[in-house]
Amino acid sequence: APTYAVFGNPIAHSKSPQIHAAFATQFADHPAVANFVYDKLLAPVDGFTTAVADFVAAGGLGANVTVPFKEDAYRLVQTLSPRALAAGAVNTLQLLHDGSLLGDNTDGAGLVADVLRYTQIRGARILLLGAGGAARGVILPLLGQEPATLTLANRTLAKAEQLIAHFQNHTTISLHTCEYLALAGEFDLVINATAASLGGERLPITDAVFAPNALAYDMMYGKNETPFLAQAREAGVVQRVDGLGMLVGQAAEAFELWTGLRPDVAPVLQMMRAQL
Ligand code: ATR
Repeated sequence: APTYAVFGNPIAHSKSPQIHAAFATQFADHPAVANFVYDKLLAPVDGFTTAVADFVAAGGLGANVTVPFKEDAYRLVQTLSPRALAAGAVNTLQLLHDGSLLGDNTDGAGLVADVLRYTQIRGARILLLGAGGAARGVILPLLGQEPATLTLANRTLAKAEQLIAHFQNHTTISLHTCEYLALAGEFDLVINATAASLGGERLPITDAVFAPNALAYDMMYGKNETPFLAQAREAGVVQRVDGLGMLVGQAAEAFELWTGLRPDVAPVLQMMRAQL
């Protein structure tokens, strides 16, 4: 039976087992990974809780959670980390010594770690595009880096306003909301957390949102350039990064939570890039 796993539906194409296997290989003789077996587990859409209970009963120690179960996991656990609470979603489960489950969310930390490979966030003017679960998951970790401002833009402005309201009273960083077409001013870090790329669509933002030397970051990734990064390239943005590093980064944070060991992300990211 696996000691670690990722739950999702669908799950067949998950890259997590390969990423975690590569991390474990980096610590081959370490006792903390002696029983590290990471599998992917398909749970029925209405059967997440049972699937997790079965996994734990069979010796499971920790798990990642992906679509569509991150909110189910949030409701399932007995304890939430502050960043999971802020995200409203759980992507990492850890079995505690008393048999209860801790719910964490490593997505935002994975994004932050990846962005920091290219540019600093401290003092930056951040534009976050989108106000769904993907956007919500990264706000607290981004604020933790002490940017100058964070502006949340969304097609449906009310959703951006509701989301920002969660954070407004818990930070001194200046938070704003805006519709895409009304965006004025330059941003140093522009992050796409919308699902627009899935449909091949571009966002109605102008080239002027990108400051000179801005970094454009797309949470999406793929073999081909994403529509958002194509848009950024055409706007003259030189630093353009897709979300594969965020995927490997969130996995690294989960691996460290479970094992206490900090894996080297770069070679694993390189390996995953080569396989796209
Ligand atoms: P996720 O969990 O991936 O964030 P979600 O909660 O469905 O998924 O959120 C999707 C986000 O993408 C939302 O911000 C959505 O905008 P609305 O709140 O206005 O719906 C955004 N989105 C999806 N398709 C889009 C499109 N074609 N153009 C612009 N934004 C889009």
